[in-house]
Amino acid sequence: MSEHTVLNMTDMNYAPDRPAAANPVKVMDLTLRDGHQSLFATRGRTEDMIPVAEAMDEVGFWAVETWGGATFDTMHRFLNEDPWERIRTLKRYFKKTPFSMLLRAQNLVGYRNYADDVANAFMDRACENGMDIFRTFDALNDYRNFQTVVPKIKEYGMHFQGCICYTLTEPRLGGEVYNLDYFVNKAKELEAMGADSICVKDMAGLIAPYDAYELIKALKAASKVPIHLHSHFTSGMSPMSHLKAIEAGVDIIDTCMTPYAYRTSHAAIEPLVMALLGTNRDTGFDIRKLAEINEILEKEVLPKYKHLLDDSKVSIIDINVLLHQTPGGMLSNLVNQLREMDALDKIDAVYKELPKVRKDLGQIPLVTPTSQIVGIQTVNNVLFDEPGERYKMITGQVKDLCYGLYGKTAVPINSEVQKKALKGYDRGEEPITCRPAEVLKPELEKAKAEIGDLAVDLDDLVTYAMFPVTGKKFLQWKYGKEEPPAEVKATSLEEAKAKEALVQKARKGEVVEKAKLAEMPARSENARKFNVFIDDDCVEVAVDEVGGSPVINFLQAGGQIPAAPAGTAPAPVTPAAPTPAPVAAPAATAAPAPAAAPTPAPAAAPAPAAAADGTPLSAPMPGMIVSYQKNVGDTVAKGDTVVILEAMKMENALPAPCSGTIKAIGYKSGDSVAKNAVLAIIG
Ligand code: CO
Repeated sequence: MSEHTVLNMTDMNYAPDRPAAANPVKVMDLTLRDGHQSLFATRGRTEDMIPVAEAMDEVGFWAVETWGGATFDTMHRFLNEDPWERIRTLKRYFKKTPFSMLLRAQNLVGYRNYADDVANAFMDRACENGMDIFRTFDALNDYRNFQTVVPKIKEYGMHFQGCICYTLTEPRLGGEVYNLDYFVNKAKELEAMGADSICVKDMAGLIAPYDAYELIKALKAASKVPIHLHSHFTSGMSPMSHLKAIEAGVDIIDTCMTPYAYRTSHAAIEPLVMALLGTNRDTGFDIRKLAEINEILEKEVLPKYKHLLDDSKVSIIDINVLLHQTPGGMLSNLVNQLREMDALDKIDAVYKELPKVRKDLGQIPLVTPTSQIVGIQTVNNVLFDEPGERYKMITGQVKDLCYGLYGKTAVPINSEVQKKALKGYDRGEEPITCRPAEVLKPELEKAKAEIGDLAVDLDDLVTYAMFPVTGKKFLQWKYGKEEPPAEVKATSLEEAKAKEALVQKARKGEVVEKAKLAEMPARSENARKFNVFIDDDCVEVAVDEVGGSPVINFLQAGGQIPAAPAGTAPAPVTPAAPTPAPVAAPAATAAPAPAAAPTPAPAAAPAPAAAADGTPLSAPMPGMIVSYQKNVGDTVAKGDTVVILEAMKMENALPAPCSGTIKAIGYKSGDSVAKNAVLAIIG
């Protein structure tokens, strides 16, 4: 630190009126977006941001990240909150600090490239609702995917921050693909597009301190705009990388408030403030003010969320990131997916297969959605490939990627895999080379016709256009057409504390209070027993479905819904219960979390006694029905797609196991299904 002026420690003043630094490091706070996305499965509610909003506005942050990424999906899907409303609400409390959002370029806040008309409408609404800074990235670093959203940012006079996704094929910066030249050239491309700042987006925490130094030095020399470093803590290197980046002249650093820091999130702000105190890069922040905010978060907010924290391991760093270079979120998604399929023992095979799949798919960076695309395909290969056949079950997203629908990959895709993926692909077997959105037909008018009056304004329409299944469900809750299920409701601090007290009691081995007998309903003969393991203890519990045992129904030709006799169909376990007939309440939401939540493994639902004779098409994995491609009575050839099943955000086209006629269909669009659920009967 020889080039820095260090104040005399005895004169040092913690107060914010200490002498201003010559070149203070600017800081963006990520607590309200990436912080809870990384640690608490993006479940942060607006009402829990308000208690700290005004104090955070006083800190002096360059910006606060409040929106984008997975927040839009999670809010409408799991929290019954209108994502647009969050911007407007928080703006009433943050009067001076600009708002930043994470924009997935043409993917907006979803998982695929949307048509230009949807992108334009989304950008209009995001700007008009109050976003100021658009941190924009493309998962393939293909900036043709910026061509629609960037002019919109400029049209509204907002800040365009262009991202370079930081990824490696070697243990450290360098090699054939992702070397210093690659990143410098990407920065030049961004500057030429009018970037107001450039962000190195290190989503997996891969950047090593000396590489950060070298890279930031090179970027500062190559571009005139401010350089911003976003480096997740996951591997444990980021605080060191921050310091080296600061020495190299980085302009802006990302941090979180302490309770939202570390693990797969970001380094905390307070140690950075103290480390730089009195130097020529002093942030100028009042550390006591930060402590006050932390106090509120710890006492009033975190009790509601800490059960979401993955505390299955004592270590707060993930060595696997250094070994396998998989981003933290992706890793926990893989583990959850394997666990749901009772295949956790295959994790080592997954680690081995992952770099092969990534290479086959063009050495793409691993960031949403490519991390999921590569991750899920890897799991599919490990679980379903046979000795004679690789890539036996290719996801719809891998097909899209092979077609060019996500953009240009860093190196060409393996031609054999590409050919197999595109065989019978509905857009054509010949991949495209143009900007992906050019082949996408406008989507907004179609969405408008589908959703009709349920979308009251453009905000609603854009929500539906991006998330047709869950977006529609949300709009039904929003306008009182359907009762939102209990699990989307907020928990009060009192409820959270009561729950925590019970957990503590159970952990200490104290008897858990029994519910009062008068309130206890009679146990039915259909009650299913479960063993619940708490540390080394095991408690047997019986679970009874309220409103009677669910029965499996098949919609048969003619629209009759014959109820299977109770008892013949074992009740599938929530969260994957099929909707009991008649349809009265929305099916339990069991869609995968955008960021991995520590969820218990749902038990596999046994195949129900079929109400129709024939060959069943079963779900190979738990997921949500996107759509049926065939109806009852349709004839199918073996291999024809019958149903699209979304699992871990990836769409899987499930083929007919044999030729014949669709005798029965078990579910409808939006239903959650367990592994082995019978989706259709072919006879
Ligand atoms: Co991030």
